[in-house]
This record gives sequence, C-alpha cells and structure tokens, in this order.
Amino acid sequence: MKYSNKNEAYIIIDSVPGDKSISHRAFMLSAIAEGSTYISGISICRDCLSTINCLQSMGIKIDIDISKKTAIVHGKGLYGLSKPENVLDCQNSATTMRLLSGILSAMPFDSVLSGDPSLKKRPMKRIIEPLKLMNGGIYSLNHDYAPLYIKGGKLNGIKYFSNIPSAQVKSAILFAGLYAGNTTTVLEPELSRNHSELMLKDFGAGISTDYFKDTSDGFHISTTISNTDKLYSHDIHIPGDISSAAYFMAAALIIPEMHVLIRNVGINPTRTGIIKVFKQMGAYVNIYPAENSGSEPYADIEIKSSQLHGIVIEGSVIPTLIDELPVICAVSCFAQGTTIIKDAAELKVKESDRIAVMCSELSKLGADITETCDGMIINGKKTLRPSKINSYHDHRIAMTFAVLNAAIGGGINIKGSECADISYPGFYNELKKVCQKSY
Ligand code: S3P
Repeated sequence: MKYSNKNEAYIIIDSVPGDKSISHRAFMLSAIAEGSTYISGISICRDCLSTINCLQSMGIKIDIDISKKTAIVHGKGLYGLSKPENVLDCQNSATTMRLLSGILSAMPFDSVLSGDPSLKKRPMKRIIEPLKLMNGGIYSLNHDYAPLYIKGGKLNGIKYFSNIPSAQVKSAILFAGLYAGNTTTVLEPELSRNHSELMLKDFGAGISTDYFKDTSDGFHISTTISNTDKLYSHDIHIPGDISSAAYFMAAALIIPEMHVLIRNVGINPTRTGIIKVFKQMGAYVNIYPAENSGSEPYADIEIKSSQLHGIVIEGSVIPTLIDELPVICAVSCFAQGTTIIKDAAELKVKESDRIAVMCSELSKLGADITETCDGMIINGKKTLRPSKINSYHDHRIAMTFAVLNAAIGGGINIKGSECADISYPGFYNELKKVCQKSY
C-alpha cells in the first residue's frame, strides 16, 4: 500500500476483529461445502461463537486457533448436518438465527432455534414469511418471535420482493435457494451488504445480481441463485470489520490531535457508508486499498481529528452504515450545525431500539438530540458532561459511549459495558491503548 504522507506520526491500529458478517457466512457455508475450508482472519466474538456452537452441535468439526485467528471447518456437504439433540442456542446473534433458518428449512430433520432475551425480541416474521412461501416448515413458538421450530423438507424456488433492505433476510432466502427447485430470486429496494452473494459465488454456486436504474416498483436490485449440487471448499481470508474500526475512526475525529492508521479493514462498498458520510462532514480520511485482495476488498484507513459540520444522512447510504449509526450520531454531537438521520427505522429492531436509546442516553450527557419516526436530529457543538448511562446490553451502544468517554476526558459510567464482547472482545483495552498513545 502507498501512503501519501509516510512521515506523519499516526498511531497504527494493526488489527480490528475479522468481519463478523463475513465470519458467520464463512463458517456456515464451509460447513455445508465438500471437504475442509481454511479460513484466516476469523472473528472470535461472542456472536460468531454462537454460529460455531450451533454448527458443532450438528456434527461439524471446526478446529480453531484463537491466537492465529484461523479455523479449519470440515464440511460435510449440503445435506451433511446432523439433527441437533438440543435447542440450537443462537444467544444474542440474529445473523446466526436468521441465516441458519434458511439452511435448516431444507434439512431432513426438525430443529428448534432460540436465543437470549434480546434475540427473543427481534422480529422473525421477515424470514418466516419468505421461507414459508418456499414451502419451508418454519413456525414461531412465540407470535413471530423466537423460539423458532423448523420442520425441514423440500423447498420451492420463489421470487421475493423484500421491502426491508436486510442482508439477513436476503441471505436466509439465498441459503434456502441453494436447495430449492430451479431458481430463487430476491429483490431489494437498495443493495444491502452482499457478503453472502460474493461468498456463494466463490463456493461455486450459480448466483447473479442485476441492477435496475429506473423501475416503477422501486426495487432496484435482483439477486438470483440456482439450485446447487455441491459447494466447493476454498481458502477464505476475512478482512477486518469496518463496523469495529468505526469506533477508532470516530475517536480519531473527535479527540483533538488524534491521528490513526487502521490496518486491513474491509471496504466492500456495501459497508463503507461511514467513510462517505465522514468525508461529507469534513473529515480528513485517506484510504489505501490493498492490491490483489480477493472478492472482499480491504484497505488501510488513515483518519485524524477534523473540523466537522452537520449533514443529512438518508436514502440508499443507510443500509451501508446501519450498524455505524450510533457512533456516527455520537460524532455528530461534535460537528458544527445540525445532522439529520432519516430512513433508519430499522435501528428500532436491532439489539436495542437504537434510536430511543441514543436519544435517551445522549441527552443524559447534555446533547441536543431529538427522536424522529425514522431517525434522529442532532444539533452539534454542545458541551457534553459525564453521566451514568445504560447500554441496554447493546454492544454498539456500549462501545459508542466508551468513545465519548475518551473524548470528554472520562467520567461516563456505562451500565452493562461487558456486552462489547458480542462483536469486539478486548475493545476497551485497545481503545485505552490507542487513546493513551495519542495524549
Ligand atoms: C447483518 C446485517 C444487518 C446488520 C447486522 C449484520 C448481516 O442486519 O445490522 O448487524 O450479517 O447480514 P439486517 O440484515 O437486519 O439489516
């Protein structure tokens, strides 16, 4: 990689956890591929451990080397999973539950998926409906919420118009589509993260995506998968998670004099809305893409404290930064003027209601923030004060307030801060290290 200003003294953040979304998919698809798949750069966060545990309880052998962040998954083929003896516990991970449901709907056995109290409040109708249309025997045991009972069987291909730009919904349908008659098509209004499509292609599945500019029905993206005989194992390298790098990007922007270089971060365009938005707000950001990366591109990201101004964040950029909106909202408190976040009602059904929680907890610090039906309005440049806040067991809320804590010189007490492990074990130590170096 070429750096424009080699001599500048930035702090190097050598590794953030491997991308969580890509890790889930790598474990699941290699479990149903032929032969063994070697995966490097895996995330060993709590959510990914949920996927690993579920696959292991269906007879998949997975050798993990935590220090090297590698895994070898011994795949058993498309129908190689065995009937789990117990309920599959997805814990906090909606990705585990929704994506596995697509595969389990086609298995020749019954299964039950459940999770922790937070996961039991996440909407599941969004996957139940399309999987049922595919002839899937999938039933909620609690009014469209988990636990889910799945009576696996033969599936039909469908053409599904997904109103929600959700990669989890799309992926559940595409994974089921591997097993369904002929072809299965998912249409989306805007492109949600496309890691499943890229990885399915790398595993040899017949999959293609078409883009339509002008459509009368508002659906611009169409992805079609064909019934598949076999998935073929191949080495996978998982880049760093931009959703984890986001906290250091935010810290760098709002902590005076801070200047960091974050290495090997995934820059799949369906995930880089945060870079676009920070640039629009006036941030100093440089991207140094790696040469010869595979289907998931990655780069080093250089970013430093900058004078920011408010902007409107809306429309097709929203799915590309959905998980980063809490930390973007926090950064907006330091920007001159007003930031408006729209079209983000999906935030209400994440690990917490992230609109309500960001508004209530930021208000405790003295921020000027107003909740709207699909987002928030933040008037920046108010002085924030320390307070006790509640993370509501939501990892992205906890990490966002840890960054704010560093920015205002300490004093914010975060209830339930340990939930950061859901996506980023060791986050607080890394943040402390980086901040100490910058002072
Ligand atoms: C994810 C998709 C997004 C995101 C979640 C991970 C995935 O959810 O918020 O953290 O790995 O597919 P939705 O698909 O519900 O938007």
